[in-house]
Formats: sequence, structure tokens, C-alpha cells
Amino acid sequence: MTQVKSDALVFYGATGDLAFKKIFPALNQMVIRGNLNVPIIGVARGDYDLEKLRERAKESIQKHGKFSEETFRKFCEKLQFVGGDYTDPETFRRIRTALGDAKNPTHYLAIPPVLFPKIIEQLSASGCAEGARVIVEKPFGTDLKSAKELNSILLSKFEEKSIYRIDHYLGKRPVNNIVFFRFVNSLLEPVWNRDHIESMQITMAEDFGIQSRGAFYDNTGAIRDVVQNHLFQILCNLTMEPPKALDSESIRDEKVNVLKAIAPFRAEDVVKGQYEGYLQENKVDPNSKTETFAAIRLHIDSPRWKGVPFFIRAGKNLPVTCTEILVRFKHLPSAYSSIATQPNHIRFRISPDVSVGFGMLIMAPEEDMASVLSEVQGNPTPFPNEKEAYERVLTDAMAGDPTHFARQDYVEEAWKIVDDYLAEDHPVYPYEPKSWGPEITNKQILPPGGWKNPIVSKK
Ligand code: BG6
Repeated sequence: MTQVKSDALVFYGATGDLAFKKIFPALNQMVIRGNLNVPIIGVARGDYDLEKLRERAKESIQKHGKFSEETFRKFCEKLQFVGGDYTDPETFRRIRTALGDAKNPTHYLAIPPVLFPKIIEQLSASGCAEGARVIVEKPFGTDLKSAKELNSILLSKFEEKSIYRIDHYLGKRPVNNIVFFRFVNSLLEPVWNRDHIESMQITMAEDFGIQSRGAFYDNTGAIRDVVQNHLFQILCNLTMEPPKALDSESIRDEKVNVLKAIAPFRAEDVVKGQYEGYLQENKVDPNSKTETFAAIRLHIDSPRWKGVPFFIRAGKNLPVTCTEILVRFKHLPSAYSSIATQPNHIRFRISPDVSVGFGMLIMAPEEDMASVLSEVQGNPTPFPNEKEAYERVLTDAMAGDPTHFARQDYVEEAWKIVDDYLAEDHPVYPYEPKSWGPEITNKQILPPGGWKNPIVSKK
């Protein structure tokens, strides 16, 4: 399939928070690398003009990106502004004019999904949707029903192949390295199955609370915010079958197959927690039962994984900020069984630093018949020019490569796993800020060998 490069980028929500924190720095980097040589049109409501947008972009790149006067000048040469109401056809006539002779524009909706129906309608009516693709931000709905509705709105004017759903975890190199590492190394495939792997656990810990996102977070919670999307993507990378080919659809097909083999969450397989002090956060309902922590056990009903338990844990206000995966191997019976006191493991650290560690047993010092666990680490050489997740996904979308985006069937399968559980009323246990979640977690959802709490060295 030839990939058509986009010849203009229109982004809606140009004055918003996401644009400030992520989009301007990413676009600036794309310009620096020569990956964005097309008009960039920022669209926003309210009292704004191009001069103000440039100021905002400058501030954003200075704060969150790599700023230099010279590259910023290049960025500004490409930047245009269209202001107006998203419900007003006139706004879209002006966008069409600003697009000039662009034939394959990309429309990036960095705005709340409630605005999608109007915008999609107007894009079509104004001719802006012709030959175009559309990028949308998570959350892709708040449950299966709303995800389907959202999709039918998008599909009414765009084909699935032109819809790019951002999950920025798919823009993280170490997340994609999981698949790469599994399939380029011949050592792993023979043991990457239920015969050899005892369990896997994924921890996404954040040592901060909900910051200023109370209104969003209180309607969302940890399962919708990061489990149903980011952590399921990691789980799929860890467990998918080898794709038949390296094209985007073969890879995405295998991910969907993993989700199809996971049963809906059962109450006994989930512990929800809420940090003490959450109810006093700005814009949070004082009686809220929204979870800021979740620990989950699940199984993948496939020949490769039948019987292997998978554990996922995510939370705000935990002791560290770190995303890490631990794959534990089974002991094989042998004359050495009584000496092999700890299992082998592979540990993937996704952030804040990146590494892959092999936990192996070696002879303990000065003792011939005792073992000690030693981790051999593969740390990639630091690469200061590494693309940040948003830069990577936006570069891919502009180039027409959907591999690292969520396909609709994937999104729907992911909702099917969590939907019923989220619609039910389950207890939410309090936990102390900077602890590893409610104590009941260690009774109800305990991986073999216990949770491995990531250790992050302080810089
Ligand atoms: C976002 C969530 O999608 O991912 C946030 O909404 C979370 O709550 C963030 O903090 C984590 O992303 P990263 O890249 O910092 O791990």
C-alpha cells in the first residue's frame, strides 16, 4: 500500500493545554528534522490571532521543547491561524482557503470529543474532508457504546484507513521495542509461552496526583485513563502472536486477537483505590468513588497463554514515577531445584529510563551450592535526539503509517473487557499518598513472588 504524505496540517484546539504541553514542541521538532515542510494551520475559538499564537507557541517550545531562534523562525514561516466557532460554516470556509491547493490535509482534533460531530460535519460540507485524514485523541469514548457512536461519526465522512487514533504509548520507542525484542531475538520465542513463563506484571506508577485535571479525571478514573488503552497496548505487545508480515494491518490484527482472548473483568480480579486527599482536589465531587489506583489480574485464553496470570497495576500518588514490566519464568525440575531459589526474569523498563534486564542465577560468592540472582542489563546508549512520543506519532500520521495507532476494532475489544465492570458499583479502598495502593491489593491481587515495586534511582 503506498502511503500518501499529507500536504497540510490543521490542528484544532491550538490554544489548549495539550497543544501547549505536547503539540507545539512536537511540531517544532518535526520542522527541525525536516519532517514537516507543509503549512501548519492552528484553529481555535475565542479572541486570538496569529501573533498571539506565535507567542504561545514560543512559550510552549521554550518550556516543553527545544527552542532556538533560528528553528523557531522556520516554524513560524509555516504557522497560520484561523479563528472562529467550530459550529460556524464560515470558519471552515476560511480553513479551506488557508489550505490553498493542499490535496491531502490532515485534521488533528485536539479538542474534546463532544465537539466532533459538528466539526466532522463541517469538514465534509466545506470540502476540507476530501482526500484528508483525521487524527483524534484519546479517550475514544467512555465505554463501548460511546466509542461506537464516536466511530460512526468519524466513519460517516472518513474511511477507517484515514482515521488515526492516538495512544501516545505507541509513540514510545521502548513500548515498540517489546515487540521488536521478542521477534528479532531467536532466543526468546521458544520460551515465550505457558510452558516457560509463570506470570507477568505491569506497573505504571506516578508519584503525583491528578494535578489540575480534576474535572477530566473524576469522570474517568485509572482504568479508563491508562489501563484500557496504554497498559493494554503494552500487554498486547508482550503477548501477541508473530504477525504474518510487517505491514500495519498484520500487526494490528494480532493485537486485536489478544484482546479477543481476554474475558471481561470480574469483581474478584480487581482492586480499586483512591488516594487520601483526592476528595479535596479541585473540581472533584466530594463523594466521588473514582479510582486513582487499580490492580487487576487477567488471563489470555489462547494456546500460548492458557493458565498464565497477568497482573496490571496503575496509580497516582504512588512512591515513584515508573513504568515497568516483569516477566517471571517457571522453575524446571532438576537436581538443582533446591538451589534455584529464585526464578529467572526479564524486566522491561519503559520509563523514566529505558532498560531490559535478564535476571539469572549464578553461583553465590564463596558458596558452591547456593545461588544468587544477578541481573544482566541491556541499556540502550542514550540518544539525545530521540523522538518524543508525540513527535513520533504525528510524524507517522503525516507520513500515512497507521501501525502505531489504535484501530476501531481494537478500541471496541478493549472496552468490552472493562465495560461491565465499570458500569457496576464496586468498593474503592483508600490509600495513603506515596504508598503502593490499598493494603488489600496484596491479599486479593497478588502475583506469584509478590508485586515487584520499581526502584528508581534519584538523580
Ligand atoms: C495520559 C493520562 O494518557 O498518560 C495521564 O491521561 C498520565 O493521566 C499520562 O499521567 C502518562 O503518560 P506518560 O507518557 O507521562 O507516561
